[in-house]
Amino acid sequence: MKKFFKWFFILLLVVIAGAVTFVFATWDKKFDAPLPAFKASTDSAVIARGKYLVYGPAHCASCHIPMDKIGDMKKGIEVPLSGGWEITIPPGTFRAPNITPDPEFGIGNFTDAQLARALRYSVKHDGSVLVPFMPFQELSDADVTAVISFLRSQPAVHNEVKPRELTFLGKAVVAFGMIKPEGPKNPPPPAVTIDTTATYGKYIANSVSNCVGCHTDRDLKTGKFTGVPMAGGFKMPADTFSYGYGFISPNLTPDKETGIMATWNQQTFVARFKAGRIHKGSPMPWENFAKMDDVELKAVYAYIQALKPVSNKIERVVFQPSEKMPD
Ligand code: HEC
Ligand code: HEC
Repeated sequence: MKKFFKWFFILLLVVIAGAVTFVFATWDKKFDAPLPAFKASTDSAVIARGKYLVYGPAHCASCHIPMDKIGDMKKGIEVPLSGGWEITIPPGTFRAPNITPDPEFGIGNFTDAQLARALRYSVKHDGSVLVPFMPFQELSDADVTAVISFLRSQPAVHNEVKPRELTFLGKAVVAFGMIKPEGPKNPPPPAVTIDTTATYGKYIANSVSNCVGCHTDRDLKTGKFTGVPMAGGFKMPADTFSYGYGFISPNLTPDKETGIMATWNQQTFVARFKAGRIHKGSPMPWENFAKMDDVELKAVYAYIQALKPVSNKIERVVFQPSEKMPD
């Protein structure tokens, strides 16, 4: 018996040493993902659409700004996208990079294809994986072009942002393929018609504004969707940006009893978005969404109204810093 344990422990040590060696040897791996053939445009209408998406519905500007400019952004100021926003989570410390055209610290030396690949396949310019902060894989071709065209048109800001730092856990998660580049699940449309229909609203809610990413219950550890889309219930515990508050996303489906919007009409919905933030620390990028045009808001409303009502009672949405959130 003693001998058995001895060999068992030796084997265990070998396995652990092997796993650790594997993690250190492979965490920084490069991925093969297509470099999509996009080309930035200098057309002013295309650039304007890009700027609108970046500061409004796609809310790139809620992250790609310096930490000390978050207050300005929340006042509605269009802060330059010089990066620096930083979040520390168990896999590591991640920073939103400078995405102004600075050649040294920004995107000046990245190709249009590298930028498109980052958005569509979550692959960084150096071929490594981007952790999933940006669910824009199914942006239309036209909107990817618009965003890139706007990024190119901005003044360069010479601001260095430190690279990300992965913890051992983060390295292991990448080495074992638990975080890997995610491409589009459905073929992205070449272009979408901008109107007030539910079809366009579905595109905004799912592929641009990520309403579905927060208003659907998910496993907090893996990010996997576990609830009915848009029926709420996703727990968002306090983080660096929430001033200690925790949140559970409300049910947006048009269920008479449990849907938060059951008694709202189109005007209530549009007015609610224009009014902006009510809850300090809410992760919803209200300041960016307040810049959304009526067309997009009416479209999102039409999409939500057409959803199947789902009964999912969210007892509490906001949790005070002193309160414990339910498990
Ligand atoms: C929730 C915060 C957040 C939002 C919103 C966001 N980003 Fe990012 N972005 C990040 C972080 C964090 C990284 C770095 C991730 C990493 O290091 O793994 C990043 C990386 C990038 C990169 C990769 C740069 C490189 O080195 O290859 C590009 C390009 C980019 N973002 C553009 C955008 C654009 C364009 C939008 C809007 C359409 C956007 N981001 C929205 C947080 C965000
Ligand atoms: C990053 C996460 C996140 C995203 C993205 C997000 N929401 Fe929310 N949303 C929340 C949270 C958390 C709350 C509850 C706290 C609050 O009201 O700010 C909320 C609240 C709401 C409310 C209730 C407001 C009220 O006054 O009661 C509506 C309506 C809503 N969201 C709609 C949307 C729509 C539509 C989108 C996409 C255009 C969206 N949300 C995107 C997290 C998010």
